[in-house]
Amino acid sequence: MIKMLHSGWAYIVLVILIIAVINAITGLTSKRDFKEKDLRLPLFALIVSHIQLLIGFIAYFTSAQFDFLKESGMGAAMETPEIRLITVEHPLMMIIAIVLITIGFSKHKKKSLDQDKFKTIAVFYGIALLLILSRIPWSQWF
Ligand code: HEM
Repeated sequence: MIKMLHSGWAYIVLVILIIAVINAITGLTSKRDFKEKDLRLPLFALIVSHIQLLIGFIAYFTSAQFDFLKESGMGAAMETPEIRLITVEHPLMMIIAIVLITIGFSKHKKKSLDQDKFKTIAVFYGIALLLILSRIPWSQWF
């Protein structure tokens, strides 16, 4: 149940994050004003990624990979690429990505120029998106 929720919610996170990054890049390149929609998109991405963080923690502690980690130890988990991905790489990278999203959102609010707001979102959310894409267990997901 939790695994299905985490798996399905991931689509929402990715779609909204991609839209938020594209919106920030186009805002920056077209030099348009920062409007209500430009605030709502990164805010929405922030909210859905924080929800995914919570679901992820529950998925982590109830996963078969975590059972393996407890029973066989960190050394054995690190030796098996699929187990290492789920017990270490995926959670760590996703947490870093969500921290970047949070910092980016809070930093953009403090900027006074519209172009600086777009730039902050584009950089922080863009890097977060790349990190997420790099450590999704693609073969397991599809
Ligand atoms: C933006 C954040 C995240 C995204 C987009 C994401 C995405 C995904 C995806 C697509 C899968 C594969 C699901 C499947 O096999 O159908 C997965 C699996 C998993 N994720 Fe995440 N995840 C995120 C954050 C986290 C965090 C923060 C944790 C732990 C603290 C976590 C723990 C797990 C675990 C344990 C699995 C394997 C579940 C299982 O096979 O039982 N995820 N994640």
